[in-house]
Amino acid sequence: MNVATRINSRLDVRGQFPAITGWHYLDSAATAQKPQAVIDAITQAYARDYATVHRGVYERSAAMTASYEDSRAASSRLIGGKPNELIFTRGATEAINLVARVLPKQGRNRVLVSTLEHHSNIVPWQLAGYEVDAVPLTDDGRIDLAAAEAMLTDQHRVVAFAHVSNVLGSILDAKAAADIAHAKGALLLLDGCQAVPRMPVDVAAIGADFYAFSAHKLYGPTGIGCLWGRADLLQSLPPWQGGGAMIEKVTFEETTYLDPPARFEAGTPHIVGAVGLHAAVDWVENLSLDAIHAHECALVTETRAALSAIPGVTLYGPEDSAGIVSFNVDGVHAHDTATILDDAGVAVRAGHHCAQPLMRWLGVEATARASFAAHSDSSDIAALVRGIEQVKRIFG
Ligand SMILES: Cc1ncc(COP(=O)(O)O)c(C=O)c1O
Repeated sequence: MNVATRINSRLDVRGQFPAITGWHYLDSAATAQKPQAVIDAITQAYARDYATVHRGVYERSAAMTASYEDSRAASSRLIGGKPNELIFTRGATEAINLVARVLPKQGRNRVLVSTLEHHSNIVPWQLAGYEVDAVPLTDDGRIDLAAAEAMLTDQHRVVAFAHVSNVLGSILDAKAAADIAHAKGALLLLDGCQAVPRMPVDVAAIGADFYAFSAHKLYGPTGIGCLWGRADLLQSLPPWQGGGAMIEKVTFEETTYLDPPARFEAGTPHIVGAVGLHAAVDWVENLSLDAIHAHECALVTETRAALSAIPGVTLYGPEDSAGIVSFNVDGVHAHDTATILDDAGVAVRAGHHCAQPLMRWLGVEATARASFAAHSDSSDIAALVRGIEQVKRIFG
C-alpha cells in the first residue's frame, strides 16, 4: 500500500465538510472548517431550542441552560478538567487577557514566554504591566526548555508557552515546562489553540495551572473559547468584567460575586456557540484525538518529504511537527506563493502569522503555511506540490 492510500484510509471524513467541496483547504490552523454535525447543532439550537440561559423559569430556558452547562462539562473533560474549572470566553485571546488582568502579581512582575508565541500570548502580558522575557528556540524550532530553566527567576509570576506552535507545529514537552515553572514558584499557562484540535491533552497529567483554546480551531463556531484553570486558583481570583450573571447580590454600597466559573462570565453568553462547541467536542472525541493526531502527523511527513524534494523550497520547524508545515520558495514572497496557490485551488496562509518575533528569529518577513485537519488527505498535498511547481515556473 502506498503512502497516499494509507493516509486516505486512515480518516475518511472529507464528505462531512460541505464548505470544502472541490477545494484544497490548508488553512485549518487559522480556523477549522465545520463538519455537518456542528452546522446541524447550531441550526437546531436557533431553529428549535433557542432561549436564554440561567435566568428563565420556563422549561425551554431550563433546557437551554442544561445544554450550555453540558457543553462546559464536555469542553473541560476533553482536556482532562472538571466542569467548574472551565470559563467560556470569546476565544483564546480573551482567555489569556483574562488571566493577565486578574492574576495578582504577588510581587512578581515578569512573565516568561517563548520566541515562537502568537501575539495573543505576548501583548496581554505587556498590557497588564508585566516585563516579558522570551526563551530562545532550539535549532529545529522548539522552545528550549534548558534555556527556560536557566532564565526563570523568583520574579516570574507566569510561564506562558504555546503547547503547539501555530507556525512551526513544534510540540512542547508540557509536563517538563510545568515542572520547571513550579520549581521556581511560577504558574504555567499553556496556549492550547493549536494543540486541542490536533492531539489528546490532559491538563491534570501535565500539571498545568491555566489552559486556553478557541472553539473555531476545533471545528466549532467563532466567538467562543475556553479558559481552563485549576479550581483553587480560579476561586482565589477576582472578577474582571462586571454585569449580569456574575453577581450574588448587588447594592449601591457593595456587590458580592458568584463562584467560578460564573464569576468570570458577565452578561448573556454565546449560548449557541456553546452548543456548537459541544457538537465539535463530540465530533473529535468520536473520531478520537489519537487518530486525528496520527493522521495529521502522517500528512506532515508526506508533505515535508514532497516539498524537500523540490529544489529551492525551504522548510521550517521540526520533522515531527503537529499538522503544520511552514515554508518559503526561495526568492518569492510568501504572499505571491499563496496567491498563485489560490489560483490553483489551494488555500494556504501567508504572512507573519501573528508571530513577528518568530519571523525575526527565522530571519524572514513571512512564511507560507500549510496546515491540516481531519479532512485533509494526500490530494491536498499533491495539489500543493503542483501549485508550488507553478510558482517556480512563474518566477523562473
Ligand atoms: C497559537 C495561537 N494562540 C492564540 C491564537 C488566538 O486565537 P483566537 O484568535 O481564536 O483568540 C491563535 C490563533 O491563530 C493561535 O494559533
